[in-house]
Amino acid sequence: MPTEIRFLTPDDASALWNLRLEALESEPTAFSSSADAHRLLSVDDFRARLSSDPANNFVVGAFDTGQLVGMAGFVRESGQKSRHKGRVWGVYLAARMRGKGVGLGMLSTLLKRAAALEGIEQILISVASVQTAASALYRSLGFVSYGCELRALKVGDRYIDEELMSLPVARQAVDV
Ligand SMILES: CC(C)(COP(=O)(O)OP(=O)(O)OC[C@H]1O[C@@H](n2cnc3c(N)ncnc32)[C@H](O)[C@@H]1OP(=O)(O)O)[C@@H](O)C(=O)NCCC(=O)NCCS
Repeated sequence: MPTEIRFLTPDDASALWNLRLEALESEPTAFSSSADAHRLLSVDDFRARLSSDPANNFVVGAFDTGQLVGMAGFVRESGQKSRHKGRVWGVYLAARMRGKGVGLGMLSTLLKRAAALEGIEQILISVASVQTAASALYRSLGFVSYGCELRALKVGDRYIDEELMSLPVARQAVDV
């Protein structure tokens, strides 16, 4: 069975909770959240997250023989002055599935839907500078670096810098 890529529904909440824990435990330098903080959340919290405002807040998943093995989330900013922006979060693929184009497939699916949102002009992502596969993937999709936050994360005694990246998805409004 080939890898299936589709948007998650509230029925995927339990699988998403488990995959998110795997991501935070196996790649602690890749994410600002911690596994300990995740364990305080319930499956119902994830169900609510997958139900709330699905037009502007969604998660794409990759499935291998029916099992959720990859995820990438998108959330649009809600403020009147920031609704032209959205953010990608939680990009993760199980190690055994990497290097076969699945990450690219998930991000392409997510960005196609995000870019189609009325009024969206840029999509942001923060990537730990040590996650070289992820930053190469984002660059290949057109994301450009606009800065670097030094020592953005402290994982144990180790400091992690984060590269701040953005993808322009529509021409900016021009004042006339
Ligand atoms: C980032 C991640 C999802 C990529 O998934 P993937 O399925 O392995 O990536 P793909 O096979 O689709 O590769 C797509 C592109 O990404 C880049 N890439 C992927 N793996 C790479 C690697 N090991 N080294 C360098 N570039 C890499 C390449 O540009 C590649 O295109 P190419 O194959 O034409 O060279 C996966 O590596 C992962 O889960 N990493 C750990 C978690 C993480 O870093 N998350 C990011 C949080 S911001």
